[in-house]
Amino acid sequence: MVKCGPYLCHRTIGKGAISKVFLATQEDDASICALKVMKKKKNCEKYTEQFAQKEAKILKAVAHPNIINLLKFCEDETYDEGGIHHRKVAYMALEYARNGDLVNMLRRFGKFPETLARFYTIELIKAVEHVHFKGYSHLDLKPDNVLFDSEFNLKICDFSLSSERKMIKIKRGTKMYCPEEIFTSEYYHGPSTDIYAIGMIIFVMVTGHLPFREPELKDLRYRYLQNKSFEKFWEVTCKTKSSKYATRFYTEEFKNLFVWILSPSAVERPSLAEIMEHDWLCQEAMSREDAIDYFKQFE
Ligand SMILES: Nc1ncnc2c1ncn2[C@@H]1O[C@H](COP(=O)(O)OP(=O)(O)OP(=O)(O)O)[C@@H](O)[C@H]1O
Ligand SMILES: [Mg+2]
Repeated sequence: MVKCGPYLCHRTIGKGAISKVFLATQEDDASICALKVMKKKKNCEKYTEQFAQKEAKILKAVAHPNIINLLKFCEDETYDEGGIHHRKVAYMALEYARNGDLVNMLRRFGKFPETLARFYTIELIKAVEHVHFKGYSHLDLKPDNVLFDSEFNLKICDFSLSSERKMIKIKRGTKMYCPEEIFTSEYYHGPSTDIYAIGMIIFVMVTGHLPFREPELKDLRYRYLQNKSFEKFWEVTCKTKSSKYATRFYTEEFKNLFVWILSPSAVERPSLAEIMEHDWLCQEAMSREDAIDYFKQFE
């Protein structure tokens, strides 16, 4: 078994560019956590330390019930893969989100009814509002970084790309969830980038799929959104493969909010407060208890 400082790593629950996340227990009291381990490559030790330090610093600064809690950070530890391989790592012990990420949730339970998606959209906005209030932009919001704990509370994670700057130059994030200005402007506005990604996440929760194959003009559905040909966009989106006659149904309020958030121009996008006041979010939403009951019926 892999050992990392006082933690025993039981299985891998996530993998990223420079990190691996394990389900781990602390040796002395067997308490469970998610251990995000960043291996230090030769000649890049300082870089990994600084990278990990930055994420840990932000996680501490943004503590909130809808943001994954940092339990412990260590910038220099030995990672022992069974006696022979000792490696130097930095790690973060995080609150463990037992129900995994949104990708995993959609696989298990299918797309969310709008009343459930509305409940989680409010939770997501509360988290992002807090991050922005603390002066940061997340910059990598996507279903993989939206987690659910054992009580199905939503918690955002992965602040490795987050920034304190409002106007950002470095291109970062996951292309599918990034607005175009990241690639076309010299500087882009961090909070508007997060808002765009929230729109993508809402769409994925409600429909169970992405709104387009790739964010490129050669992609028909993306082009419809960019050209504001919304009727055509929804016509294609609502068509089902299974039957020529059946169409998927989404409320007008949902459609209206989604295309507003995905506005190609950052200044046209709603603020978080405007999203909260939008008609779609003012309709009936499941409560936390309803959400738990909803998931339990699948057991
Ligand atoms: N606290 C946690 N509880 C449960 N699962 C987690 C937790 N943290 C991370 N995971 C899982 O591990 C995956 C990767 O974690 P995370 O996003 O923090 O790292 P990453 O994408 O590797 O980041 P980086 O960009 O730093 O390489 C997540 O998508 C999620 O599935
Ligand atoms: Mg991630």
